Amino acid sequence: MKKRNLITCALPYANGPVHIGHLAGVYVPADIYVRYLRMRGRETLFVCGSDEHGVPITIAARKEGCSPQDIVDKYHNLIKQSFADFGITFDIYSRTTSATHHQYAADFFRKLYDEGKFIEKESEQFYDPEAKVFLADRYIVGTCPKCGNPDAYGDQCEKCGSTLSPEELIDPHSKVSGAEPVKKRTKHWYLPLDRYEPWLREWILDGHKEWKTNVYGQCKSWLDGGLQPRAVSRDLDWGVPVPVEGAEGKVLYVWFDAPIGYISNTIELLPDSWEQWWKSEDTRMVHFIGKDNIVFHCIVFPSMLKAYGDGFILPENVPANEFLNLEGDKISTSKNWAVWLHEYLQDFPGKQDTLRYVLTANAPETKDNDFTWKDFQTRHNSELVAIFGNFVNRAVVLTHKYFGGATPAPGELLDIDREALAQIPLLKKEIEENIENFKFREALRAAMNLARVGNKYISDTEPWAVAKTDPARTATILNTCIQITASLSVAFAPFLPFSVEKLNRILAVEPIAWDDFGKASLIPAGHVLNKAELLFSKIEDAEIEKQTKRLDDIKAARLA
Ligand code: MF3
Ligand code: ZN
Repeated sequence: MKKRNLITCALPYANGPVHIGHLAGVYVPADIYVRYLRMRGRETLFVCGSDEHGVPITIAARKEGCSPQDIVDKYHNLIKQSFADFGITFDIYSRTTSATHHQYAADFFRKLYDEGKFIEKESEQFYDPEAKVFLADRYIVGTCPKCGNPDAYGDQCEKCGSTLSPEELIDPHSKVSGAEPVKKRTKHWYLPLDRYEPWLREWILDGHKEWKTNVYGQCKSWLDGGLQPRAVSRDLDWGVPVPVEGAEGKVLYVWFDAPIGYISNTIELLPDSWEQWWKSEDTRMVHFIGKDNIVFHCIVFPSMLKAYGDGFILPENVPANEFLNLEGDKISTSKNWAVWLHEYLQDFPGKQDTLRYVLTANAPETKDNDFTWKDFQTRHNSELVAIFGNFVNRAVVLTHKYFGGATPAPGELLDIDREALAQIPLLKKEIEENIENFKFREALRAAMNLARVGNKYISDTEPWAVAKTDPARTATILNTCIQITASLSVAFAPFLPFSVEKLNRILAVEPIAWDDFGKASLIPAGHVLNKAELLFSKIEDAEIEKQTKRLDDIKAARLA
């Protein structure tokens, strides 16, 4: 087993707040994985930050009437706060506008440039003759040739969904000045991905057959389609300036600089020891991303690292997820079709774990999935409240009622006790195997099954009835319940950190080590518990109606 784990999450664009789709696809699974690795005592570094360059940022700035820097400042801080609020335990959350990143990304480009790893090519690009700027496809608008929508973009018509090129638009004009775009020659640098194709085929198609089928399949189809040189620079005034002479007005293409952000953020955190993480065969790197990022993390960034050489490691796995939809429709920042994390917390304060739970239980691991408020409520009320919370509450309340809160010593175990306790190591193993294989949904199900075991055990043994006649038997039953409760504190720790903290407070214990999970007696007889508090409170219909009404209003406004 490799000594270190370098875990990265896709750097979110700082052009809007983060929503449930981000959390479900990338940040919650990565955080579960990292919490688990740390609990197992494996050395782990968890790196992320905001992606602050590229056309989306300049578009947001134009829309909000401010500078790109204002936009990234605003959203970087909001996003960073949302991740902290949801308990995502990054070791660093920095940003690609940092001085460290600008310097390192420029140096990275410069080394490849000096070593002749790029090709230089002139081509014709659309240009706004009035504003004197080159225009990204998104900056050209016109009438859609397919449906007649007068506000189609140069890359896509949002009305009929067609993929377009600027040439196809009728009456194209620049979004910047309104002028008709003209073609103008411009020079750019390209990474010749075709040169890396044989190596990529061997590394991925032969070497990583264990990758998720959606990831492997996308890589295979890119490789089978044949790779083309990819431009790594753009004509834009926002980004990392291309660090060569004669490149005025050109910046690194955002998809070239952003993944370098994983490295520069590590440098920012560990200026003296970052190479241990990036250039050591003893490090295992895993990228958590959404499916739209697969080609960049499996093909482009590895080719950049390979071109750079110098001992850079490649990812061992890229467990990309599919997408989460919201009430049947694709989540969209520009259409405001999302549940924003900062707004969720205003409406459901303290309920971070509910969202972590629901998004994991319904994670889009193998196919797109749908988030509905109804399912959110059901999972919370009938799983978190009715199973996990209910069991823990009964166990702790009864221990207070009959034994003054001191964990009673068990007597002789009956089959029913032994059978319940025997489930603990089995489910522990199931959680471990699933997490290690990036099957977080199954792992969470196993943790909840342990709560089900407890809930069924306490219902079957009825300590409240037994207590009337047999205090010794009651002691054995409640001891068993407290041991199961303690194992739940470990089982759920990677998934529901806030609830586990509460549970540990109730149990009056420090966080329990993963290695102790499954051992016979986690809580010694005589150990005094704190008073019971409810782990979860019920979510009422009115709270859900408020959310569905909000979405209905957004839909109505769109149609109006
Ligand atoms: N900002 C990109 C997105 O949201 C992800 C960038 S990942 C990185 O799709 F590797 F480039 F950083
Ligand atoms: Zn159209």
